[in-house]
Amino acid sequence: MPKVLVTRILPPHAQARLESQSFELIQWKQDSAMPRKELLGQIKGVDALICLLTDRIDDELLDAAGPQLKLVATMSVGYDHVDVSALKKRRIPLGYTPDVLTDATADLTVLLTMGAARRMKEGIIAAEKGEWREWRPTWLCGSQFSNKTLGVVGLGRIGEAVAHRLKAFGISKVVYWGRSEKVETGKRVGGEFVSFDRLLAESDYVTVCCALTKDTKELFDYNAFSKMKKSAIFVNTARGGIVQQDDLVRALEEGLIAGAGLDVTTPEPLPLDNKLLKLPNCIVLPHIASATNETRERMADMCVENVLAGLSNQALPFSVTE
Ligand code: GLV
Ligand code: GLV
Repeated sequence: MPKVLVTRILPPHAQARLESQSFELIQWKQDSAMPRKELLGQIKGVDALICLLTDRIDDELLDAAGPQLKLVATMSVGYDHVDVSALKKRRIPLGYTPDVLTDATADLTVLLTMGAARRMKEGIIAAEKGEWREWRPTWLCGSQFSNKTLGVVGLGRIGEAVAHRLKAFGISKVVYWGRSEKVETGKRVGGEFVSFDRLLAESDYVTVCCALTKDTKELFDYNAFSKMKKSAIFVNTARGGIVQQDDLVRALEEGLIAGAGLDVTTPEPLPLDNKLLKLPNCIVLPHIASATNETRERMADMCVENVLAGLSNQALPFSVTE
C-alpha cells in the first residue's frame, strides 16, 4: 500500500475521498500546522506528500523522505515555499492548484480594493465606537472607481479576473506590468503594458497579482510607493514578500498613498503589535483570498487527483511546468 503523508486535515469531501483510497495515510490531525520536526520525522519512506503553503519543501525535507517519494502536491497556486530545483534534480513532479481559486481570489481582491478605497475599516470602527454622530457631508469620504485607472502587477489568471471585475465597477483604463507583455490577456481586458514606473505614476488602484520570485521580492519599497499618487490605493493578495513592509508602513503614515488592503503579510500571522494593524487606512485580512467552501474543496480534490496520478506513474493533471 502506498504511503501518503498529508500535513493537515483536508476539507470534508476531499478528506473523505482521500480516506476511501487504499493508502496508508499519515496525517497531522490537529488544528494547527504540522510542526517541521514532526514532518521531518514522518516523511521517511512516504510515496506522496500533500502539503500546504506553510510547509517548506527543500533539500532537507526531500533527503529525509528518501528515494521512493513520487510526487509533492501543494494545496495552493503559489509555490514559493517549494524549492523547485530541489524537486527537479530528483525528478519529482510538483502538483499545485491553478485556476480553481481565480474567482475567489479576484473577489477578495475587489473587496479589499473597495474596502480600502471607501475607508471601510474606519467606518466600522466609527460605528462600533460611538463616533457616528450624524450624517456629515465630508466625513469618511473615499474614492470611487468611475473613470479611474487600475494598475495590475502580474496580468495572469488572477490579475485578469480582477481587471474584468473592476471594469464592471467603472474603471476606464487598465495598465499592467510584469515579466513579459501578455498580448492576448491584454486585449481581453483592454490593458496597456507599461513600465513599472508608469504603472506607479498613473494608477489610482494598484493590485499585486504576481508570484513571489527573486525578481518581485520587495518590489514595492519606499521608492516605489513614493512614485504613486497620494490618492492611490495599494492592494496585495499575492505574497507578503513582494512588499518591503516597513516601507509600506511609512508610506501609509506619511500619506504617500491613501490606503492599503492586504491579504498577505510578512510574517504570517502578523504579530498583534504590528503597526499595519493599527493604521486606520490599512485593512489586513488573514490570508483568506481562496477561502470559499467551493474553492477549498476543489483545491484539495486536485491534490488528491495529483496523488492518484503520480502514484500510478502518470503525469500529474495539475502540475508546475517551469
Ligand atoms: C494561496 O495563497 C495560494 O497560493 O494558493
Ligand atoms: C444618503 O444617504 C443620501 O440620502 O444622500
